[in-house]
Amino acid sequence: MAQLTTCEIRLARTRDASVLAHMSRDYIEHGLGWRWRPLLIREKILAAETVVLIADVVLAGERLIGGFAAMDFGQDQAILSLLAVRPNLRRSGIGARLLGWLHETARVAGCFDIELQVRAGNTAAHEFYEKFGYRVVAHLPGYYSGKEAAYHMTLSLAKS
Ligand SMILES: CC(C)(COP(=O)(O)OP(=O)(O)OC[C@H]1O[C@@H](n2cnc3c(N)ncnc32)[C@H](O)[C@@H]1OP(=O)(O)O)[C@@H](O)C(=O)NCCC(=O)NCCS
Repeated sequence: MAQLTTCEIRLARTRDASVLAHMSRDYIEHGLGWRWRPLLIREKILAAETVVLIADVVLAGERLIGGFAAMDFGQDQAILSLLAVRPNLRRSGIGARLLGWLHETARVAGCFDIELQVRAGNTAAHEFYEKFGYRVVAHLPGYYSGKEAAYHMTLSLAKS
């Protein structure tokens, strides 16, 4: 595991959009086509109902975006649309920090539950979400443009 000296959580700015879009392409959407391009991420950063969160890390003296997440907030429900951590920084608690921050925000916003879709073959993400109380409520064959199935997972905030 890489030696992390600092990890700070902050809100994304529009100038982060390109880095986040490339992280989404490489770590989340690989093999599916690239949907979350810089313009779409930029829209999310600017949208009032969405929080795009960044984990800034200092690694070997260099500051970089180690991970990020995006959550849409509705009246009763929040949707986690993106979450990724750089491969060399995984298993150092960055994903947990981003998710914890978003859970707290969803609670304060009065949401009752959080929903997400995860690629059916993504065992690591599955185990990660299950650790934080998410449960599979549906299997969605062909969800990703007919190329891959998804699991629909939810977390009830009342129970977490
Ligand atoms: C899923 C992901 C965000 C997890 O981020 P992370 O920073 O590595 O997670 P954390 O270090 O906070 O892990 C917290 C706990 O989750 C579980 N977990 C995380 N990764 C896991 C894995 N590969 N296998 C099993 N359990 C895992 C563990 O219980 C872990 O605690 P531990 O390290 O003390 O055992 C990261 O693997 C990732 O970016 N994957 C690629 C993108 C992706 O799949 N995103 C989610 C779908 S949108």
